[in-house]
Amino acid sequence: MSTEVLHREHRHFAPDATWVAQANVSGHAAYLALVREAERDPEEFWGRLARTYLVWKTPFQTVLNDRNPPFYRWFEEGTLNASHLCLDVPIERGMGEKTALIFESDDGTVTTLTYHALHERVCRFANALKSLGIGKGDRVIIYIAMSIEGIVAMQACARIGAIHSVVFGGFSAKSLQERILDTGARLIITADGQKRGGKIIQLKAIVDEALSMGAGMVEKVIVYARTGENIPWDSARDLWMKPLEESQSPLCIPTWVEAEHPLFILYTSGSTGKPKGVQHATAGYLLWSILTMTWVFDHHPEDVYWCTADIGWITGHTYVNYGPLAVGATQVIYEGIPSWPHAGRFWSMISRHRVSVFYTAPTAIRSLIKASNLDPEIHPQRFDLSSLRLLGTVGEPINPEAWMWYYQQVGNSRCPIADTFWQTETGGHVIAPLPGATTLVPGSCTLPLPGIDAAVVDETGQEVPPGHGGSLVIRRPWPAMLRNLWGNPERFQKTYFPSELKGYYLAGDGAVKDPTTGYFTITGRIDDVLNVSGHRLGTMEVESALATHPMVAEAAVVGKPDDITGEAIVAFVVLKQQRPAGAEAQQLASTLRQWVTREIGPIARPRDIRFGDNLPKTRSGKIMRRLLRSLACGEPMTQDISTLENPTILDQLRETL
Ligand code: WTA
Repeated sequence: MSTEVLHREHRHFAPDATWVAQANVSGHAAYLALVREAERDPEEFWGRLARTYLVWKTPFQTVLNDRNPPFYRWFEEGTLNASHLCLDVPIERGMGEKTALIFESDDGTVTTLTYHALHERVCRFANALKSLGIGKGDRVIIYIAMSIEGIVAMQACARIGAIHSVVFGGFSAKSLQERILDTGARLIITADGQKRGGKIIQLKAIVDEALSMGAGMVEKVIVYARTGENIPWDSARDLWMKPLEESQSPLCIPTWVEAEHPLFILYTSGSTGKPKGVQHATAGYLLWSILTMTWVFDHHPEDVYWCTADIGWITGHTYVNYGPLAVGATQVIYEGIPSWPHAGRFWSMISRHRVSVFYTAPTAIRSLIKASNLDPEIHPQRFDLSSLRLLGTVGEPINPEAWMWYYQQVGNSRCPIADTFWQTETGGHVIAPLPGATTLVPGSCTLPLPGIDAAVVDETGQEVPPGHGGSLVIRRPWPAMLRNLWGNPERFQKTYFPSELKGYYLAGDGAVKDPTTGYFTITGRIDDVLNVSGHRLGTMEVESALATHPMVAEAAVVGKPDDITGEAIVAFVVLKQQRPAGAEAQQLASTLRQWVTREIGPIARPRDIRFGDNLPKTRSGKIMRRLLRSLACGEPMTQDISTLENPTILDQLRETL
């Protein structure tokens, strides 16, 4: 999205009076008051919020220990437990009989669970983990689809102080194995399979394959029987979840952990080949989950809340598992995909479950726009969406057209849209409108949340004038920021707090601030990270996967814009053999696509593969990626190619298969 286009965006939507009246942060002045409180004395501000919103076993004395930046420590003397906050606290506040989870399976079966019932399941499963010798600080890999069991597994780990690392079901055995080894996990929790779009996808088989490549420290694999299919079984290692859980006591005293105790590790892509294990701390992360649920999602007790993200991503951690439970919400969780059995599934679910707050990704919205243009029967207007009061989006920039459709067709022009900008590393929303306080502008995530000191800067950390593009940073630490990269403090420091940026947190995104409103618009990643359907992938990750294929000499990967997925992957490949053509090239491209699927997972499969005798390089041998990007987008070559060693290569690479 060019800055110019955004400057032409004149539509804006002020919150209406009834909305303002009922909002948790009511009116722009209330938002500004919080911002000013945070600016006046950040520690006082965060200390007040941590005392108000968290329930401590032992109180903290120090709000922020910043003696060793960027290794900040928050609320360090305090102790608490995440699962206590998410389950026992709502029960103590009288919500035991309130529905916590409404689970809808792929085939439409609905299971509901109260806070009491969820608490009991989590306690039993936590005791089961303890019976296997798992305890505080042990790492547990969770490789499971959207399910009540996935939530139970995460909560049970948190209850005993074990550190979970959820791996998205779309990652391959090899990616899973890398994460198993990197975390040094002792246990894996998985399912026999998962059901998606009427199909069964194996999960346990992938775990077996990953472990066959080297199991590291893994002792046991717990398997949730989801599909009931026959699966290979290692009786010395594998255990079924249900009998294990049912043999345990329904009481489990939480293990009180220090505020800074790692709650989880979640891998995400960066600009080098190896994924980064983002490590979050218990107290700060939970505080922000609760605050953003309250401020941005304006949580009210009677809400039925639905975030469509998978627990394999950060959105599923903060806005499915921890945030909604910690505020005592009733939430929908869904096993399947938006297009099954028809592309009206989301709208049908909103209508049947009377969802009031709905949070999804721009990619899903764009694909549903397309589907409802083709089939008016599944258009949102055909469904009763009157229960909706607030909409949200996350994961990638939302184009103003998709925003308007979401606003008018789904929200009936009466529901504010929270376009929430954040990252795995930020723990929760950092730039987002407050629906009862902020005037909305399509395509802008609007203003930083109170306490978030976001700015757009140049390479030296100097703020650029409004209206000019630059790099997004957060200048002051905040409680939910990542604490480290698992086992790699040097990379943590170098990636996020580069010395030339005055100790600021570097987001890796470009941004521009509107000269009049101060609103932020995110212009996309400025490092070598792609965003395909809201999934983060490193170009180097895909390149390394391609380069391990025996026939590949060299590969370069770039993104090209795509109407539905935001970006699509284009790979330029040089083979060790002669450049293939025609059917042979088609065949090889398909082999390489499958290869990447096996190496990383289906989410990394290149859309387009092009073969060349070489790649465009400078005389010093550097690949000129910006030329490849132009080629991938089919743009006319306007760049300066005078430093190019081999200009004729461009014609060759222009050919698509
Ligand atoms: C992008 C997902 C524009 C951005 C929560 C960021 C967005 C990356 C938005 C993080 C948004 C996320 N507008 N871009 N509202 N939200 N992004 O770690 O490039 O999977 O750096 O976290 O997604 O992706 P991640």
